[in-house]
Order: sequence, then C-alpha cells, then structure tokens
Amino acid sequence: MIFLMIQNWICDFSFDRLEKAGRLYHQVKLTKDVDDLFNDTKLDAIAVATPVSTHFDLAHKALSNDKHVWIEKPMTEKVEQGRALIDLASKKKKVIFVDHTFIYTGAVRKIKEIIDNGDLGDLMYYDSIRVNLGLFQQDVDVIWDLAAHDISIMDYLMPFKKFTVSATGSSFYGNGIVPKSLLTIYMENDVLGHINVSWISPVKIRQTLIGGTSKMVLYDDNNPSEKVKVYDKGVDLYETKEDLYRLKIQYRVGDMYAPKLEEIEALAVGTEHFADCILNGKKPMTDGRAGLEVVKVLVASKESLRKKGAPVDLDVNY
Ligand SMILES: NC(=O)c1ccc[n+]([C@@H]2O[C@H](COP(=O)([O-])OP(=O)(O)OC[C@H]3O[C@@H](n4cnc5c(N)ncnc54)[C@H](O)[C@@H]3O)[C@@H](O)[C@H]2O)c1
Repeated sequence: MIFLMIQNWICDFSFDRLEKAGRLYHQVKLTKDVDDLFNDTKLDAIAVATPVSTHFDLAHKALSNDKHVWIEKPMTEKVEQGRALIDLASKKKKVIFVDHTFIYTGAVRKIKEIIDNGDLGDLMYYDSIRVNLGLFQQDVDVIWDLAAHDISIMDYLMPFKKFTVSATGSSFYGNGIVPKSLLTIYMENDVLGHINVSWISPVKIRQTLIGGTSKMVLYDDNNPSEKVKVYDKGVDLYETKEDLYRLKIQYRVGDMYAPKLEEIEALAVGTEHFADCILNGKKPMTDGRAGLEVVKVLVASKESLRKKGAPVDLDVNY
C-alpha cells in the first residue's frame, strides 16, 4: 500500500491496490492523483510509502503544501535530498517522521535499555544476518532494502560517528540489482559493524549479535518467545606479574537470561508517536536526522559496492 493518509485519502497509481484499499477502509476517499492530497487544505499529514526513488519528490511536495510527513525507510536516494527535506521541514515547522520500524519494537527498546544501563560494558561490535528468499525490489539493491534496518538500529543503539564503509556483492541476474551483500562499517572507539543481507537465501534468518566487553546480546527476531538473550560471556586479557610482555587470556562463561519484552506493535507505536509529535511539537525519535544518517551510509555503500568493497569514507560535512 502506498500512500496511506492519516484520515481520509488513500492514493495509488495502481487501480488494483486502490480497490483493495477501498474494500478494507470504507470511509476513505480513493484517488490516483496525488495532487488531491496536496490540495486538501484540511489534511494535516501524509504518509509516503512508495518506492524509494519517489520519496523525495512526494515528501518535498507534501512539506511545501504544509503537511507533516511520514516517510518509509530509506528516507531518500541521495544525501542532498535528505538535507533539503530537513531544511524545508524546519522552515515550514513541520514534522518529518522516518519509519525506522525496528526502533519501535519491544526487543530493540529493551536492548537500548540494557546498553544504556551499562550492562554490556564498552561496545565492540554489531553483527547481523538478515537473509530470506525475496522480495526483490525493482529500484534498489538489497542493502537499501534490508541493511537500512540494521543501520537504523545501530544509529539508535550505538550512535557512534561512522567513518568508513565497505560493501561487497554481486548482481547475479543481469538486471543490475544486487540481491546479496556484505557490509562493514567502521565506527569511532574501534566499534565494528558487520551486516550480511540477502534476498536469495533458502532460509529466513534474522539474528543480531551485539558484543560488549562485559556481556553480549543475541537478538533473534524469528524467536517468538525469547527474542533477546543476554550472555554473561567474554574474554579478559591481562598482564601477569611474571611476564609483563605476554598477555594472559581468560574466557568468561556465565549465565544467560532472556528479559521480558513489551508486547507492542511497532506500527501502532510509531503512528502514535508521530501524532504526539505533531500535536505537541515534539521531535520524533526517528526524525529527518536519523533518516539522513541511514542514507549517508547507504550512499557510501553503493559507491563501495561499485568499487568491489573499496573503503569509502563518510564525509563528515554531508
Ligand atoms: N518500514 C518497513 O519495515 C518497510 C517494509 C516494507 C517496505 N518499506 C518501504 O515502503 C516503501 C514501499 O515499499 P513496498 O514494498 O510497499 O513497494 P510496492 O512496490 O509494493 O508498492 C509501491 C506502490 O506505490 C505506488 N506508487 C508508486 N509511485 C507512486 C506515486 N507517485 N503516487 C502514488 N502511488 C505510487 C505503486 O503503484 C505501488 O502500488 C519502500 O520505500 C520500502 O522501502 C518499509
């Protein structure tokens, strides 16, 4: 579904999609002409859920017509477009909400709490595998589709400055779209991100390991009852009195626990938060800045992918 309107419009180019939406939501007006939404002065907000290549134009027009805007991830195709939307929203005093869905899940919120309490110690790595069969996108590589989730989670959990990106992958089907990729992100404090994404895996895996110097987390989004597990495991290196030049290695193997998670629906939490930000002048947790951070990494990944994994520095002035 494309253009989900907060109160009374749904717009899509596709007649079939509109018809389906009409069957689900009897009270809404249906249109193929997006100007109907922009011209409706009673309309406060528009949600843009179209292919990535259309996000900028639609969101720009929405803001220009004094609408608050919800944008599906990734926010834009280009860094300059993201910046332009942020500037326009600020000028128009309108909210940009970027739908980084996972930030509104009980699991990611719990991990954030654990990290912020200092339970993991100093963070060392974010290591994720997000693979399944399909859905091929028409206009973007798999990094833009799936790694965008991990980059947004990293930005939320460990908002370290990101310096360098390296991405590899191949377009196996001759259509120029890369359906399998490995992404490495170098961050400040020697923190490392590894993200493995694919649309051509025979099985669906959604696992993330977050390693700290004290404890480590396994986040398995496919596990229905214990999505988050915290392991009291690690490696300690220390000097011995006898031999100062040789480090002694000791492995720590302690308990594991699975914390209770809030049972919440991410979309419901996100839409409530969007409405709260509009009504009470608050800044969304996933605002234009958060959207732009993800786009910066994606754009650098695209360049690195083209150069077969060559490191691409993230321009701090972006
Ligand atoms: N947040 C999430 O977890 C999540 C999950 C899936 C998809 N997405 C994002 O949602 C967006 C849409 O993905 P999708 O899988 O629904 O795509 P899709 O191709 O299934 O649907 C896109 C629809 O947009 C319509 N459309 C295109 N341009 C339009 C325009 N200018 N005006 C009106 N309608 C237009 C098309 O007719 C089509 O029905 C993408 O940005 C994707 O990255 C986000």
